[in-house]
Order: sequence, then structure tokens, then C-alpha cells
Amino acid sequence: GIKIVTIGGGSSYTPELVEGIIKRYDELPVKELWLVDIEAGKEKLAIVGNLAKRMVKKAGIPMTIHLTLNRREALIGADFVTTQMRVGLLDARAIDERIPLKHNVIGQETNGPGGLFKGLRTIPVILDIAKDMEELCPNAWLINFTNPAGMVTEAVLRYSNIQKVVGLCNVPIGMRMGVAKLLDTTPDRVHIDFAGLNHMVFGLNVYVDGDKVTDKVIANLCDPSSGITMKNIVDLGWEKEFIKALGVLPCPYHRYYYQTETMLEEEKKAATTVGTRAEVVKKLEQDLFELYKDPELAIKPPQLEKRGGAYYSDAACNLINSIYNDKKDIQPVNVRNNGAIASIPDDSAVEVNCIITKEGPLPISVGDLPVSVRGLVQQIKSFERVAAEAAVTGDYHKGLLAMTINPLVPSDRKAKMIYDEMLEAHKEHLPQF
Ligand code: G6P
Ligand code: MN
Repeated sequence: GIKIVTIGGGSSYTPELVEGIIKRYDELPVKELWLVDIEAGKEKLAIVGNLAKRMVKKAGIPMTIHLTLNRREALIGADFVTTQMRVGLLDARAIDERIPLKHNVIGQETNGPGGLFKGLRTIPVILDIAKDMEELCPNAWLINFTNPAGMVTEAVLRYSNIQKVVGLCNVPIGMRMGVAKLLDTTPDRVHIDFAGLNHMVFGLNVYVDGDKVTDKVIANLCDPSSGITMKNIVDLGWEKEFIKALGVLPCPYHRYYYQTETMLEEEKKAATTVGTRAEVVKKLEQDLFELYKDPELAIKPPQLEKRGGAYYSDAACNLINSIYNDKKDIQPVNVRNNGAIASIPDDSAVEVNCIITKEGPLPISVGDLPVSVRGLVQQIKSFERVAAEAAVTGDYHKGLLAMTINPLVPSDRKAKMIYDEMLEAHKEHLPQF
């Protein structure tokens, strides 16, 4: 039987994962699922853990759920470790969103200044986990969901002794489902050649039953909404002639780069009405946990689909399943580039289609990205590399450099202002600085 350990197990997303495991139990016999959290997450862990237990009981599968605050105890002999924790919880995310906004800069959890600081807080913690894994479960796969997933995966690849690490995101699945809906077909008939970085991934080509439909999809991405989006990103639609010129399918997060002004206005509007996304999610979470408490509830409640991470369990469980069963199917994941995308360093993490084997994901070679998107991808990768180095070293200037070269930050002086303010606001979670 398989042992899975989930760090950040008290997350409201856990029922997703449990449902994914239950659905695949015949192929993927998980014997033990360990949900690990920290003292501050104790209550949530108990609530969501009990729901997980009821779900398993109802499904009638022989999997045991363990709830613990002792990470090291949980990790012993694990086969797969999944990470879905949020350092500083939603309060830190709200700071990541609010401070940049005050300076007229995009405030977002994985992009711009917010993405930088989420990385600075998270990378030391993930490297600690990697160290524990090296000692306690050296053969395990680390399946990282923790954002910024690309930067975090890269940090593990470059600064830890763990090489069996894969970064995951639900954006590619979301794009595939969105395309299926747009073309009135089913996701299993849609194939997309994904390449780029996490939250910066492009569909280079789109196929239905093997026939190229890229131009048709692109032509449908205009105003109003195409429907290809995530719950956490406003669906603005795209300027039709621009997207035609771009020639590839953007991901929902690209709106922050190509529609910066409008996205900023939308964020500001939200901040003064419903609140920033973290504030909205806080309320959603409270409602979810109220539901989870119901002793009669033994399924994943549909309300969870209001979260941006809906269906992430499909990404996680498909990946674990294909590694375990050596399926050799194609899935878009974050891995060491190894030359798959030219003009990105070999040792950087990229999000790209891979063949999933029991030795792990083998990236499918892309060659050079189209010139229309190559520069942006390279710039974001440079930002991520410098940010990861800053997170590991606690070097003030490296962090400032990352902030300033981020394309969402307009000037050196503003970068420094935002940077200093965020360093101060987050200092409790930035012991390395
Ligand atoms: C998307 C991203 C995830 C992110 C989530 C945020 O799905 O792929 O990486 O965590 O949105 O959703 P939330 O509901 O927390 O805003
Ligand atoms: Mn993601």
C-alpha cells in the first residue's frame, strides 16, 4: 500500500485530494494518508480531517487517515509527500495584495510583489521539509502545490538534495476544460501543447481528436468572456487582434501582464467593495469549515468549486497514479528544464508537457518558444531565479533586484518603497532577512 503525507493537511482543499484518491482507489491503493499541520492550524486540521475520515468510511475503502502536528513522525517511510501549506496563512496573502495596490501596482498572490514575498516566506520552509525528507523518506516524491509553485519547485531543485520533486498547478487542466467547453466537446478529446512557466504557461497548439484547432480557439478568445479562466481571476476577455498576433493560447494569469491597467482597476474596485481575493477567500473558508463540521457530510461539498484551485485533485492524483503505475501518459507539470525549452537554463523549473513514468516526468522537448512570448517567459524566469536566491540567502539586494526586474513593477524607486514596506509587514515570516 501507498503512504501519502500532505503538509498543510488542514487546508480547506483537502476534501479535493481525498475525493481524488477515493475515485482512483482500484488503481492507486493508498493505505495511509497523513494530514500534517502546524499548531495554528490545529482546529482546521481536526475539522477537515474528520470529514476526510467520513468520506473514506462512506466510500468503504481500507485507507486510514492520520492527523498530526508532528511532521517528522508523519514523513517516515512516505511514498509521496504533497505540500499545500500557506506560510503566514491568508493574513499574509492579504498583505501581499494590499501593499502593492496602495502603490498602484498589481496585488496578487503569485504575480508581481505578492509572488515575490510569497516565495521569500515559503522557500525556507520547503527546504526544511526537503531536508526532513532526505532523512526520513529519501525515496519519496515531493509533489508541490505550494505557491508560487514554479519558484518553489526551482528552489528545491537547486538548493536541496531532493531531486524527486514535481510542481503542480490546476491551470493547465482548467485551460483544457475551458477549451472543451468553448468547442462544445469533452476534455478527454482536447490536447494542448503546454510550455512556459507556472502561471505563465502557454498553449502552443491546441488539438481536438488530433486535429489542430489553435486558430479557431484563439479566434474565440475575444470580448466578452471566452470562459477560459479561474474562479480567482476576473474574466476580461482578450483583444481579438492582439491574441491573433500573439498566436498562442495564453493562460488566465497572463491578463496581469497584457491587461495590467484593467486588472489593476478591477483589483482596486474589489478592494474597496468585497475585499481583495484573500479577504473574499477568508469568508469562503469560514463557510466551508462550517459545512465541514456537519457530521452528516461525507462528500466533497460542491461549494469548494468556488475556490480557484477547484479540481486540483485531478492534477495531483493523475500524477501520483501515473508515477505509481508507470503509465507513460502526458501531463503538464513543473520539472527541471533540462533543455526542453531552449533559452531557459537547464537547472530551472519549467511548466511543460511531460511523459510520466515511474522514474518521474520526462519533459517533451519544445525547442525555442515563439518570439511573441519568449522574452516575457525569460524575464519572469530571471525574476524567479533571483527571488529564489534571495529567499535562500536573505540578501537584501537580491530581493530588491527581484522586485525591480519584475515586469509588473514600474520603477526602481517604487520597487524599493514596496519592498521595504513588505519586508517590514512580513518580518515575522522572514527570519532569513
Ligand atoms: C488557481 C491557481 C492556484 C491558486 C488558486 C487560488 O487555481 O492555480 O495556484 O492557489 O487559483 O485560488 P483562491 O480561491 O485561493 O483564490
Ligand atoms: Mn496554480
